Amino acid sequence: MPVARLKVVIDTDPGLDDAVAILFALQSGLFDIAGITTVAGNLGIGVTTRNAGRLLAFAGRGDIPVVEGAERPLFRSAIQTADIHGGDGMGWVDLPEPAVPPDVDAVAWLADLLMREEPHSVAILALGPLTNLAKLQTDHPDAAHRVGLIVAMGGAVNEPGNMGPRAEFNFQADPHAAGIMFAAGLPMIVIPLDVTRKVRATRDWCARLAAGSPVAAKAGEVIEAYFQSTQGRESRPLHDPCVMLFAARPDLFAVETMRLAIDTEDGPDAGALFPGEGAEVAVAMRVNAEAALELLAKGLGA
Ligand code: RIB
Ligand code: CA
Repeated sequence: MPVARLKVVIDTDPGLDDAVAILFALQSGLFDIAGITTVAGNLGIGVTTRNAGRLLAFAGRGDIPVVEGAERPLFRSAIQTADIHGGDGMGWVDLPEPAVPPDVDAVAWLADLLMREEPHSVAILALGPLTNLAKLQTDHPDAAHRVGLIVAMGGAVNEPGNMGPRAEFNFQADPHAAGIMFAAGLPMIVIPLDVTRKVRATRDWCARLAAGSPVAAKAGEVIEAYFQSTQGRESRPLHDPCVMLFAARPDLFAVETMRLAIDTEDGPDAGALFPGEGAEVAVAMRVNAEAALELLAKGLGA
């Protein structure tokens, strides 16, 4: 009896680690991808939307719609990470141009999809700032409450941040959106740096990808670009792929429920979390990293 594929929407700001996550979702056969919605984050909305289309074109999946979303955070001014992801957002890795132009208005598209599909049959895999999801919750609450599960990469609980001492990029980029989603009461799992920093690509692991399927080899090229842009490290954390890995095998993770508030000031700690305050949120705090990396390699075709 084949395992039913999870129907998902990927909300993303590709981005090198987003690309590895998307390639895994495309190659693994574990997901029925209803569409990719894009958000400004690592780079501007034009770059992230183009990259979503390029990844689909590379995988021969021009049938999957790309729908352009929020071009800026709810209230904050935009921050970007071109230093890590390159000016093209893909570390200048060779990829084709999108096969078809994107649709527009991701939030309306998401609301229509959720109202059309069976209640709680669609999961949203969120790899960037939560701007689109916060707008869905605010402007289309009936649709938002039909989502089956949201798995969102973001935040740092006990781990140091990657945008200053306590803030992580996705939640710093749009802290108001994250705060809205904490309080929304939707089925959401947050995957913070506490977990994603434990799932790391080494050069040897990348050599395995290079010897695998064309999708695995391309993922290896993307990770190599990640090594290049972050000078001489032994390994690279695979933040966004952890969202797909959780959706595929939640048993590889340990989830805790905790109260979380978030710093929405416009200072250096914007996006920092305050555990013990605010609404109750489910947070993955531990992972079987070895099994997760094995699943990721196998799902990519290596
Ligand atoms: O902090 C890591 C997150 O920020 C990842 O989603 C990465 O793509 C960047 O968006
Ligand atoms: Ca991302």
